[in-house]
Amino acid sequence: MPSGSTTPDSEAEFVVVANRLPVDLEKLPDGTERWKRSPGGLVTALEPMLRSREGAWVGWPGLADADVAPLVEDGLHLYPVRLSAEEVENYYEGFSNGTLWPLYHDVVAPPAFHRHWWQAYVRVNQRFAQVVADVAAEGATVWVQDYQLQLMPAALRKLRPDLRIGFFLHIPFPPTELFMQLPWRTRIVEGLLGADLVGFHTPGGARNFRWLATRIAGATAGHGRNEVVVGGRTVKLGAFPISIDSAALDKLSRTPEVLERAKEIRSDLGDPERVILGVDRLDYTKGIDVRLRAFEELLVEGRVSADDTVMVQLATPSRERVEHYQKMRNDIEQSVGRINGEYARVGHPAVHYLHQSLPRDELAAFFVAADVMLVTPLRDGMNLVAKEYVACRHDEGGALVLSEFAGAAYELKDALLVNPHDTDGVKNALYAALKLAPEEGRRRMRALRRQVLGHDVDRWARSFLDALGLPPAGSTS
Ligand code: ADP
Ligand code: F6P
Repeated sequence: MPSGSTTPDSEAEFVVVANRLPVDLEKLPDGTERWKRSPGGLVTALEPMLRSREGAWVGWPGLADADVAPLVEDGLHLYPVRLSAEEVENYYEGFSNGTLWPLYHDVVAPPAFHRHWWQAYVRVNQRFAQVVADVAAEGATVWVQDYQLQLMPAALRKLRPDLRIGFFLHIPFPPTELFMQLPWRTRIVEGLLGADLVGFHTPGGARNFRWLATRIAGATAGHGRNEVVVGGRTVKLGAFPISIDSAALDKLSRTPEVLERAKEIRSDLGDPERVILGVDRLDYTKGIDVRLRAFEELLVEGRVSADDTVMVQLATPSRERVEHYQKMRNDIEQSVGRINGEYARVGHPAVHYLHQSLPRDELAAFFVAADVMLVTPLRDGMNLVAKEYVACRHDEGGALVLSEFAGAAYELKDALLVNPHDTDGVKNALYAALKLAPEEGRRRMRALRRQVLGHDVDRWARSFLDALGLPPAGSTS
């Protein structure tokens, strides 16, 4: 058991359940264990909200076959769910990330359909439901997160009909034509309909789900467009675009340490005129290859010179045992090698590539240091990195190039929007961002900041929980 942990005491009135806990258990080579922050946007968004509500978090501790008792870690009440190595392979790497992830992201990689993956998904969803059923107080509110747990709302309702259940999908909900490929499509829709409220990032996601609920899962239209009726129960549907703790990041980015570090980063990069930045989980949906290609072509064409312009790509390791991820990593590392082979000088790479996860303050310093932020996913539920960049630019400097296919593009309309499938378009937008007139850049950044600072993660959580009927945090009713 990691040090510094105590056991949570009472039954929980508010429970968040996600595939992962907000912290991952790590086994060090000397046999000791420690917790580290889990990767991804879900944790970034939910952790501040849960802290303010003193709720419980149910999830997998990130290691196979780890028996971890409930604990309090850094003020959060954590209830670990054990997954065997076989379940990690079939439920997490298999059905979640080999079937659902590519299917829900426009099949940018081919999804695989395997019955034994599906069976593991059913089994693990049932286990999560049982853990929550044991932890939640009478009449508690349970908020289920993301595509790994779509069967859980119905499984939980069966075990605990007294609970109020919300579900939020952090990734895109696919077009119905793609969803219909799924051999277990009806079961998934029925699983989600176990919730009282099902939330998506965009109205399109809610519309697609509503169509499926009425066509393949026996639901009927409710009073409004934002609900369906099933088994005599009303299930609300809605769009709730997620966000970040904008004020906290704005504040962090203004600290002397971060500002100093940003200067140091530019100096370490050789004080170039322009710094281009990419920050992502290393995922094939993120379009890291797209932006490398655009940068390379600008260098080849001589429109940009590696003498005064550098690119930095920070990539958190992700899902490293899944085949598509291994292939993509090789491809990206080859591209970086090729570009540097042609355009670097000794001590001055054209592309700096770090396959590492960085601490928040270091990340903020990179955001402050970057003139151009490239966010080019082929498809993304939201993309919090785009919002994080904006939150860090209190100087109203910098330019954001953003894919039209990220959920964030619905809100961040003053970014330079690109179609990531159009290499010339990305290239021209990158070039335009590098050459953006300061006044035009400030105008765009001001508008972006109004959006991001005015719509933070607290507002997102409140709007979801209000729709679910949960009183605000701290209220006594
Ligand atoms: P996803 O949830 O698909 O990973 P998001 O962009 O919504 O995508 O969220 C990614 C989160 O992970 C952001 O909070 C971002 O700051 C963080 N992140 C991404 N790359 C890194 C990195 N190299 N080091 C530290 N944090 C990272
Ligand atoms: O919504 C994106 C998401 O899949 C989250 O569910 C998850 O926390 C994050 O990306 C990171 O992925 P993983 O848990 O597979 O490392």
